[in-house]
Amino acid sequence: MHAKTEETRDKAAIEKTAGKIRGRPFLSERRIQARVRELAAEISKDYEGKNPLVVGLLKGAFMFYADLTRHLQMPITIDFLIASSYVMASTTGKIKIHADIREQVRGRHVILVEDIVDTGITLNHLRQNILGRSPESLKICSLLDKKDRREVDVPIDYVGFTVPNEFLVGYGLDYDNRYRNLPYISVFKKSE
Ligand code: IMP
Ligand code: MG
Repeated sequence: MHAKTEETRDKAAIEKTAGKIRGRPFLSERRIQARVRELAAEISKDYEGKNPLVVGLLKGAFMFYADLTRHLQMPITIDFLIASSYVMASTTGKIKIHADIREQVRGRHVILVEDIVDTGITLNHLRQNILGRSPESLKICSLLDKKDRREVDVPIDYVGFTVPNEFLVGYGLDYDNRYRNLPYISVFKKSE
């Protein structure tokens, strides 16, 4: 995309979010798309000759998932999992699975696609859950990694961007279920 077009679109979208999102996007559409292609190339190389089961974690990963998978060079099986976490004081917060993977996991090379890893609680639970179903292998791909906030160690095999401890919205990420459709990622100021 031309820089000018992108700038115009970003400006319009920022106005649309009514002042809650300030300044330039934290990650522009162009930067995200370039990195997503790099990740797809890396994953394609690693899974050459294989047919992995690529599981998108909804809702957050929906946009990243669609962009990533369209650039994968090997045959894949797509599936999704909808889960939510109960926010608790401890690191043992419970995860509820609202809609499970429908494909058989046993014997498959599974790739979990996530939007952002924060404390790591969500992914750790889902990882253990899926490992319990005896996949041939399991790898995790997350667009964003909020490393400083990690409470539970969870191996992330593919990371798009390491990000600081700020609340981010756009490109799948929400605040109160809004802003998920923005094509870029911005810092959200809750107090303003
Ligand atoms: P974790 O279990 O603490 O790693 O939480 C991960 C989940 O929290 C992500 O899948 C997101 O849904 C949500 N989350 C964490 N940080 C952000 C953020 O900056 N913006 C929007 N959602 C976030
Ligand atoms: Mg999420």
